[in-house]
Amino acid sequence: MSWDLKNKTAIVTGGTKGIGWSIANELLQLGAYVIVIARNNDDMTNRIAEWHSKGFNVKGIKADITAYDTYESILNQIDLPAIDILVNNVGGNFPKKFLEYTYNDIQSIFNLNLFSNIQFTQVLFNKLKAANGAVIINISSIAGLEDVGTGSMYAVCKAAIIQLTKSLAIEWAPYSIRVNSVAPWFTSTNRINSMLQDQSLENFVISNTPLKTIASPDQIAHAVAFLAMESSAYITGETIVVDGGFSALRKV
Ligand SMILES: NC(=O)c1ccc[n+]([C@@H]2O[C@H](COP(=O)([O-])OP(=O)(O)OC[C@H]3O[C@@H](n4cnc5c(N)ncnc54)[C@H](OP(=O)(O)O)[C@@H]3O)[C@@H](O)[C@H]2O)c1
Repeated sequence: MSWDLKNKTAIVTGGTKGIGWSIANELLQLGAYVIVIARNNDDMTNRIAEWHSKGFNVKGIKADITAYDTYESILNQIDLPAIDILVNNVGGNFPKKFLEYTYNDIQSIFNLNLFSNIQFTQVLFNKLKAANGAVIINISSIAGLEDVGTGSMYAVCKAAIIQLTKSLAIEWAPYSIRVNSVAPWFTSTNRINSMLQDQSLENFVISNTPLKTIASPDQIAHAVAFLAMESSAYITGETIVVDGGFSALRKV
């Protein structure tokens, strides 16, 4: 079995920045045709141009994954009858104390981290089934397994992604669709790097990470790439934590 993704087709939501960019980049390097979805026009244009200049087979669709009325337009731009790999990567957070979340805050966090994942996966079902051996990889978080001070709403969504991964893995196994998840700990995207300017936060992360470094987005992408390959064909319903040993560390 070859350790590549030649002749595979993939969709990566949020593939222009951070972890999503690294995932798209890695799938391209492994030979897949990749469709990335994100909102910002300039970022999309620049990323696609960079990848095209390297000879990669890539397409960008500019869309807000939480705007459910645009899904028909997204589907029309996916010029393929079958999709082998779906990476539901879009997510984000604005932490608050529980009593401070307004109804709109809750809707917004759930739309970005959970509902869009569910709805987008639903509309892609026929294309995933048509691949006859597709895989879905959901990006969760260590915050979905333990309280790490992210605020409760993000944590609830990321925990739900882990359970969704298990439940859907069972429900869609008859269609040969595997469903797995990757749960990163702090990862050095631009967004996180600016948070880590706060020395006390950086110290907290490093002191709770046995490997004593912050993950790079590529280190998350490597786990995603493995789950996307036929080499992981017997793995479904699983969440791989990529956390430098954080979850294994004795906390007392
Ligand atoms: N970084 C970490 O430390 C960390 C740790 C654990 C889990 N995670 C999870 O990993 C995933 C990626 O995080 P990240 O830190 O890499 O995020 P990021 O750097 O903020 O990048 C987010 C990507 O998603 C796109 N995006 C955001 N909202 C979107 C929307 N509504 N529709 C379409 N595209 C959208 C962004 O592009 P546009 O703005 O142009 O749309 C960008 O390409 C998230 O699910 C996050 O919860 C991250």
